[in-house]
Amino acid sequence: MTNLTSLSRRGFLSGAAALGGAVLLPTPSEAGATIDLSIGSSWAQLLPPPRPATPVWAYDSALPGPELRFRQGERLQLRARNHLDRPTSIHWHGLRVPNAMDGVAHLTQPPIGPGEDFLYEFDLLDAGTYWYHPHMGGAEQLGRGLAGALIVEEDTPIRVDRDLVWMLQDWRLERGGEVAPGFDSAHDAMHGGRIGSHVTLNGRPAPRIEVVPNERLRIRIVNAATARVLALDFGSLAPVVVALDGQPVAPHAPEGGVVLVGPGMRADIVLDATGEPGAAMTVRDLFRSGDAYDVATLAHGDTPLRARAPDWDMALAPNPLSEPDLAGAVRHDIVFNGGMMGQMMMGDEAPAMIEQMRQGRMWFVNGRASDGHDGPPLIAAEHGSSHVLRLENRTGWWHPIHLHGHVFRVMSRDGRPTAHREWRDTVLMAPEERVEIAFQADNPGDWMLHCHVLAHQSAGMAALIRVADAV
Ligand code: C2O
Ligand code: CU
Repeated sequence: MTNLTSLSRRGFLSGAAALGGAVLLPTPSEAGATIDLSIGSSWAQLLPPPRPATPVWAYDSALPGPELRFRQGERLQLRARNHLDRPTSIHWHGLRVPNAMDGVAHLTQPPIGPGEDFLYEFDLLDAGTYWYHPHMGGAEQLGRGLAGALIVEEDTPIRVDRDLVWMLQDWRLERGGEVAPGFDSAHDAMHGGRIGSHVTLNGRPAPRIEVVPNERLRIRIVNAATARVLALDFGSLAPVVVALDGQPVAPHAPEGGVVLVGPGMRADIVLDATGEPGAAMTVRDLFRSGDAYDVATLAHGDTPLRARAPDWDMALAPNPLSEPDLAGAVRHDIVFNGGMMGQMMMGDEAPAMIEQMRQGRMWFVNGRASDGHDGPPLIAAEHGSSHVLRLENRTGWWHPIHLHGHVFRVMSRDGRPTAHREWRDTVLMAPEERVEIAFQADNPGDWMLHCHVLAHQSAGMAALIRVADAV
């Protein structure tokens, strides 16, 4: 598939690659063809040269993995072949796929063993910004690099000059450049997960990105970190959020001026390059006060593209989602407990949870630590039924809670209705926050609900939602 936006992206990436980054050209998808994707080890220049390159795990040896681009309504057919020495799987984060294609090892498919392959095949129902990553092996497989973007283009996209994908990854690197071991660290699991030492954008640390004054960019931000929440600040530039987790939202300035993106989450922004000709403007992550750092520099060229920023419409057409029936919805209270200092907030059920903590399980959904595969489902839903989940974060930590197979509306936070009732597949809960979400259970199968801080997920912060077949 060839069109102007992917051509201009290819132009952009070649420029980036010429600067020495480990960026590979995207593989454009051809209608009807099966894409081959290899999973194996590779190298990437994550630290600025002359520091050493890093051995990584990668899709098609590229870091991030190849950008898969389709049109809404097309069918993805992809054969994944595992060249690693351990099993893996691929989950299509945010896409509403049939259960057998969801890529959760041991739940929706057997793991893809070393030397084996697996054919993923499904229709792309929703346009938007999605991503793919392994769904086994906890923090290690993502922490060593396995992640890629999957873009589904609208029939009539909004008008922009360039459409860019920013895959953000967080690495814990040792002095020699190797990815640090210790993916199962109990300390990480008890706290905010495996926070790294280096953040990369499309595989490069704080890249310099050339922009033309007064050009309009659509930037698809993907937080592929295993633990780090990002609060991106664009300085005097004025990003407008147009989609969250791939789903269109009424265009709005980000709350508090920063684009908040938790692990697993995405934000599509429209950004006009309104800096002066020649201006180098930094994009910074301000999430951890006292530990802000540059994510990228937007280097404005000398010759403006036009006299002023364009005023084109930014509203995206909605996807064909099933609206939850709020009046008839089943209501569920879902309480998250655990982590460092979490005992204080456990209430009556503390003894049972503390007993599980002695066995190395640190996080609980309604009192139970789970891998999301075992035991009775947290919710058993009839096909087509609507559900309101009152999520309560009784911990001192941030948690991006992800639901598979469905998207939901975020209805309220701490009892206050949200401004946009945004559709999402992952909702970020602040410490001690209460968030209400609503969805219609219209996709049959066993689906995970879990924290996308992967060290939390593997220490118990997961549950199963079972949706019955249509009758
Ligand atoms: Cu992005 Cu269950 O994962
Ligand atoms: Cu968490």
